[in-house]
Amino acid sequence: MQEADFLSRFQREVRTVGQLSHAAIVPLYDAAQDNGQPYLVMRLMKGGSLLDRVKRGALPLNDVVAIFNRLGGALDEAHSKGIIHRDLKPGNILLDELGQSYLSDFGIVKLTEATSMTSHGMIGTPMYMSPEHFDGKVSPRSDVYAMGVILFQLLTGKLPFQAQTPSEWLKAHLIDSPLSLRAVNPHLPTELEPILQRALAKSAEALWYGWGNGAGLERSGGWAHGRGGESVI
Ligand SMILES: Nc1ncnc2c1ncn2[C@@H]1O[C@H](COP(=O)(O)OP(=O)(O)O)[C@@H](O)[C@H]1O
Ligand SMILES: [Mg+2]
Repeated sequence: MQEADFLSRFQREVRTVGQLSHAAIVPLYDAAQDNGQPYLVMRLMKGGSLLDRVKRGALPLNDVVAIFNRLGGALDEAHSKGIIHRDLKPGNILLDELGQSYLSDFGIVKLTEATSMTSHGMIGTPMYMSPEHFDGKVSPRSDVYAMGVILFQLLTGKLPFQAQTPSEWLKAHLIDSPLSLRAVNPHLPTELEPILQRALAKSAEALWYGWGNGAGLERSGGWAHGRGGESVI
């Protein structure tokens, strides 16, 4: 692709993503190029990423509920505008100085897919990729699936599947059953299991209603502020 084409495409994509103004999405200000190297200008997030946090282990249940309540609404808003994230993972969830969470890097994968930079090699992060994503059939539900993997990881500090290479990850997402949440942490509320089962369903046609308002994480039995709360993890 010609450099000028690339930059104009890059800027178009930034404008698309720029339509996303939501309290839980990192604002993207501009796209530019320096010595042939394209770059994005976005808000500086001073609290690091959820990857930094989950590397230290599972998060308290109340924190996870708060994160999903914020991010679920943001994701639904993006999907309602036809924008799919395509690379949701803890490293793309950034925190501000108060610890509030934000989705980052919307549309970046779509942008790089259209360039020669990635003509060989798979796009996305295999640990979080839905079965259909490996087939190139990305839809909003691919984001829903990735959020299911993230939910499991935040609650347990572990991934729901075990694999090493990209082909092993493909097999895991296509065939393997996810680990049972409560086998990893028996103190977690039973109500979470069916939510994860639906999010991590093998079929893209699986019924799902989106993560808006945390997809009822809190509603299920009132555990988040009741018998659950900080003490369960
Ligand atoms: N807007 C931002 N403000 C502060 N830190 C950021 C921002 N964007 C990215 N980072 C940091 O840089 C790291 C790498 O980000 P990135 O280049 O998007 O790669 P990836 O998403 O694959 O981890 C993130 O995990 C985060 O810690
Ligand atoms: Mg990123």
